[in-house]
Amino acid sequence: MTTTPAIDQLFDRRIALPDVEARERLHRLVGLENHKTRLAKMLGLLINPSGLNTWVNEHHPRAIGVLDTVLRRPPLVVLAGDVGSGKTELAETIGDEVARREGVKIMLFPMSLSTRGQGRVGEMTQLLSAAFDHVEEEALERRDIDGSSRGAVLLLVDEADAIAQSREAAQMHHEDRAGVNAFIRGVDRLANRKLPAAVIMCTNRLGALDPAVQRRAADILTFRRPSSEQRVAVLSPHLRDLGFSQTQVAAIVAATGPRQHGESGFTFSDLTQRLIPAIVLDAYPDGPVDAERALKITQEMTPTAPFRDGAA
Ligand SMILES: Nc1ncnc2c1ncn2[C@@H]1O[C@H](COP(=O)(O)OP(=O)(O)O)[C@@H](O)[C@H]1O
Ligand SMILES: [Mg+2]
Repeated sequence: MTTTPAIDQLFDRRIALPDVEARERLHRLVGLENHKTRLAKMLGLLINPSGLNTWVNEHHPRAIGVLDTVLRRPPLVVLAGDVGSGKTELAETIGDEVARREGVKIMLFPMSLSTRGQGRVGEMTQLLSAAFDHVEEEALERRDIDGSSRGAVLLLVDEADAIAQSREAAQMHHEDRAGVNAFIRGVDRLANRKLPAAVIMCTNRLGALDPAVQRRAADILTFRRPSSEQRVAVLSPHLRDLGFSQTQVAAIVAATGPRQHGESGFTFSDLTQRLIPAIVLDAYPDGPVDAERALKITQEMTPTAPFRDGAA
């Protein structure tokens, strides 16, 4: 029962960055420029905190105190919001940009869903602690004696609400509470040791995330369904390639928006993973895609229901 869990029990896989495929996936994301910039800066500072020093000396030499408040934030960022809005994509690929910009290698560890354990006493706590131990070890190997880093480690906790559920939720089980505590201890340890490591959490339900976890987050980035401009950006290149006119594209874009006041439109993933394939497969193999048919398919498709937030 107290044997240390094996690495492949903790992480689904590991992703070494930079990586060409990650770069392409990152560039395909639409409408997330601000999120990309904020996340990349925060992760960049973990690897190269002296960059901020240089900046302060150049622009605000009297504001050295400001440095500390920025650099002492816990290395935790939460990506929260609607399903299919690019949280996992961004979390898995942003390290590519940071790795290139800082000229270092970054190893991303996506925490395995099985880390939640099967609810045996102490199991989740043990798995989480082992995952953090491993990340800490890997980060230590990348830190030089002078405090600079030759690389960094990212821990990705996807669908995080299942791990770091609100301790306040009435039905919360003692075992889950212990898991939340192990998680918080793990983040604090990375921060206190000033290691080149960060934790990215993704959740569809920010409200269900433990307040103590939320409070520690250096940043909480919110994700929403695409606006009509963003739907144009996602759909237009594909539809234009299929021979649609601008007016035909506009009709499809309009049909993917909210249909009634207060309703939700299509998610990003509804557009890329459901709508475009449905249009293509409808025409295949008999003939070319037809814009009228495509519009009809769009109108008949129901957008994914929004994930209700709150401590369900
Ligand atoms: N901002 C976006 N721009 C373009 N495509 C997106 C965007 N967000 C999501 N997608 C598409 O939806 C798929 C699912 O996105 P994902 O990151 O898994 O969503 P989630 O927010 O639920 O984690 C992606 O593989 C991509 O094809
Ligand atoms: Mg996801």
